[in-house]
Amino acid sequence: MAEILDLDVRNLVKRYGSFAATDEVSFTIPKGAFFSILGPSGCGKTTLLRMIAGFIEPTSGDILITGRSVIGVPPHRRPVNIVFQNLALFPMMSVGQNVGYGLRRRGVARAEIDKRTFGRPAAARRHRPLPRPRPGRAAA
Ligand SMILES: Nc1ncnc2c1ncn2[C@@H]1O[C@H](COP(=O)(O)OP(=O)(O)O)[C@@H](O)[C@H]1O
Ligand SMILES: [Mg+2]
Repeated sequence: MAEILDLDVRNLVKRYGSFAATDEVSFTIPKGAFFSILGPSGCGKTTLLRMIAGFIEPTSGDILITGRSVIGVPPHRRPVNIVFQNLALFPMMSVGQNVGYGLRRRGVARAEIDKRTFGRPAAARRHRPLPRPRPGRAAA
């Protein structure tokens, strides 16, 4: 039997009026794969990610995560974490705690979060919050 895919995007279309922000996008991601979506500005990357995360409903097509369609499933019930471009990080947490936040929300044990976030246990205790942005400095 074929292994269940982590992600299966099928003929995904998002229309704004007559304009298609994504137009019949299809691809599959095998279990455990690390992948990137590359393309010029305006080609539909953010629209695609937002549909996978559940913030935008597709006009047509399907999204299967580990074999199950997530169409109609709200963002907080999808096994997807998204880090937005516009610095939507928790400033009172360290970088590591921001990275591990999705696991914490899922109820993963602290030792396991530390291991998966930092590669070793108990490292989180030494962490400092994110530095405050300095006025007049562009965000990286
Ligand atoms: N809410 C919207 N209404 C109308 N057009 C949109 C909307 N969101 C995105 N688009 C258009 O869809 C296309 C893809 O946008 P986007 O997914 O943000 O591209 P990318 O992230 O690859 O730069 C762009 O032409 C953009 O102008
Ligand atoms: Mg974008």
